[in-house]
Amino acid sequence: KKLAIGIDIGGINTAFGLVDENGDLYADSVVSTKKFPLFTDYPAYVAELTESLHALADSLSFEYELVGIGIGAPNANYHTGVIEHPANLWKFPVGETNPDESRRMFPLVDDIKKAFPGVECRMTNDANAATIGEMIYGNAKGMKDFIMITLGTGLGSGFVANGEMIYGHDGFAGEFGHVIAVRGGRQCGCGRRGCLETYVSATGIKRTVFELMATMTEPSELRDIPFANFDAAMVSTAASHGDPIALEAFRITGELLGYALADAVTITSPEAIFLFGGLAKSGKYIFEPTQWYMEENMMSVFKNKVKLLPSGIQSQNAAILGASALIWQEVKQLGA
Ligand code: BGC
Ligand code: NA
Ligand code: ZN
Repeated sequence: KKLAIGIDIGGINTAFGLVDENGDLYADSVVSTKKFPLFTDYPAYVAELTESLHALADSLSFEYELVGIGIGAPNANYHTGVIEHPANLWKFPVGETNPDESRRMFPLVDDIKKAFPGVECRMTNDANAATIGEMIYGNAKGMKDFIMITLGTGLGSGFVANGEMIYGHDGFAGEFGHVIAVRGGRQCGCGRRGCLETYVSATGIKRTVFELMATMTEPSELRDIPFANFDAAMVSTAASHGDPIALEAFRITGELLGYALADAVTITSPEAIFLFGGLAKSGKYIFEPTQWYMEENMMSVFKNKVKLLPSGIQSQNAAILGASALIWQEVKQLGA
C-alpha cells in the first residue's frame, strides 16, 4: 500500500495525517503552531513537527510505502519550498518593525527532507492545498476555471485556470488576502494597510465588530464578550438571533469581499468561486451580502454567470487531503 503524509499549517495548529490516493485518512495528529513563534522558535518547531511525523509514520500496524510528504503553509513559495514572511505565524518583537530579511525565511521542505531522507517532499500555499483538495475530492471536480477563497486567521486563495493551479513566476500567485480593499485602512501583518484579510477573515470580522460596538448604540449580545474570548462563530450565532451589530459586521465583510471578487472575476473569468473555512461556515450571513455586492459590481459580461458556492470538503481534513494530493499529483506526473 502507498501512503502520503499531508500537513496543514495553520496559525494555531499544524495538523497532519497519513492518506491514501482515494483520500482515506489512516491516522492523524496535531502539534501546536502557536506555541512556536517562527521568528524565534523555528528550530524547536521543526524538531517537534518531525518527531511527531515519525511517530505518526510508525503508528500503523501494517506495512506500507511512504511515497511523500505534502505541506500546505501560509506564505509558502511553491518553487523553493521556503515559507517567506509569514505575517500570521509570528509577530514582530515589540518595537521592531523591520527585522532583517534572513530571519524571515523558513526552509521547511529542506528541513523535513533532512528528517526523512529519500522521501519526496513538496510544499504549496495552504489555500492552494485546500484548492487542490476541492479539485480532486470536492465540488470543483471537473471544473477547469475556479477560485477558492479560504477564510481563517487570514484570507487565502487558490486560482485555477485551464485546469491548473496558477503559481506564477515566483511561486506566490494567489495572495488575494493582500489586495488592498480600503486605501489607508487597517494595518496588515504584511506591512501594508487596508489589505482584504484585515477585514475579511475570522480576525477581520472580530476587528469590525469591536469598531461597530464603539459607533453603534444598539444593544448587542456581543458587547458582553471580552476581546480575548471572542471568536468568529459567536458573530454567526448572534446574527442568527437578529443581532444588529453582528448583521452589520457581516454586511461590511460581504461588501468588501463582494467588491474584491467582482474584480477577481475580471482577471481569470472563473466558472465558480468557492468559500471555505471557519467564516464560510456562517452560511447565508456571509454568502448573501457577498453575492449581492459581487453581482452589483460585476462587469456586465460576467453578471449572473459566476456561481458562488460553499466548499464541498468542509471537514477539518480538507487541507490535509489537499496537501497529500500534492504528492499524488507528482506521482502521476512522474508516471505519465
Ligand atoms: C497569507 C497566505 C495564506 C492566508 C491563509 C495570508 O495571510 O499571506 O499565504 O494562504 O493567509 O492562511
Ligand atoms: Na494561494
Ligand atoms: Zn497584507
